[in-house]
Amino acid sequence: MNADRFDHLPRIEATLNYLAPMAERPRNYTFDPPPGVPRSNSERESHIVGIRDARPAAADISLDREGFAVLQGASAVQDFWDEDEVRRVYYPEVQRAIAEATGASKVFIFDHTLRRRVRGAADRVPGTPRQPATGVHVDHTATSGPQRVRDFFGDEAEHLLSGRVQVINLWRPIRGPLRDAPLAVCDAGSVASGDLVPSDLVYQNRVGETYGVTYNPAHRWFYVPEMQPDEALLLKCFDSKTDGRARFAPHTAFEDPTAPADVLPRESIEIRTLVFHEA
Ligand code: OGA
Ligand code: FE
Repeated sequence: MNADRFDHLPRIEATLNYLAPMAERPRNYTFDPPPGVPRSNSERESHIVGIRDARPAAADISLDREGFAVLQGASAVQDFWDEDEVRRVYYPEVQRAIAEATGASKVFIFDHTLRRRVRGAADRVPGTPRQPATGVHVDHTATSGPQRVRDFFGDEAEHLLSGRVQVINLWRPIRGPLRDAPLAVCDAGSVASGDLVPSDLVYQNRVGETYGVTYNPAHRWFYVPEMQPDEALLLKCFDSKTDGRARFAPHTAFEDPTAPADVLPRESIEIRTLVFHEA
């Protein structure tokens, strides 16, 4: 666990929005809740952090140690906004890439999200595309990772959960170079368990559990400057292994203060997968 090997990497400084410590359990709605209920009961706390260039260290960064990875390889997809093409062409590419990166026996895609930045727009508003994430989070938790397996696999779930299971996202800009709202990823090995705060994410039909993340000066942040569509990030959002391997890699979009003002608005796609290894 020698993190000094990242000290030489070029870095920028930027502001990230963490969760402010709170007594109550954080609860965020994905839609307008009933009158009198706030959309979020939590407060943000901004911190300026150093964010390292992951590219020169890519070969030395791994899903099982840092909880993320930088992949090379273009997609054959012509139009990521064509849902049918994404399912037909992109899904199998992602399944192959994740199986290769992890040695998994089965990769199940359960969600994909396209984002297109619209300046000034809020996220999760009907009629506007999904916006970049504004706060540090992990999509799943020690509880909701296995719960997703039960949600999708019914009777088969307990058998699958007797083997190793991971939740891994594959994230890619769909045009580049990406300067607008790049994604920052935190080395899971720099995160203390107390930094991860289980939070409710309320949908119309279910309540998901994510981690909000409180500030810790030990956090080591990375990004891929001017990321191109032939590059992708793998983000681990859960691992059933509890033997010291990375389990949760926090991440968020951020404003790069060194970017010109007139950058191309970000467009990106992320695929969420359940990754199984034979029991
Ligand atoms: C993700 C994610 C945020 C963004 O891929 O899980 O949180 O801004 N993405 O793309
Ligand atoms: Fe996320």
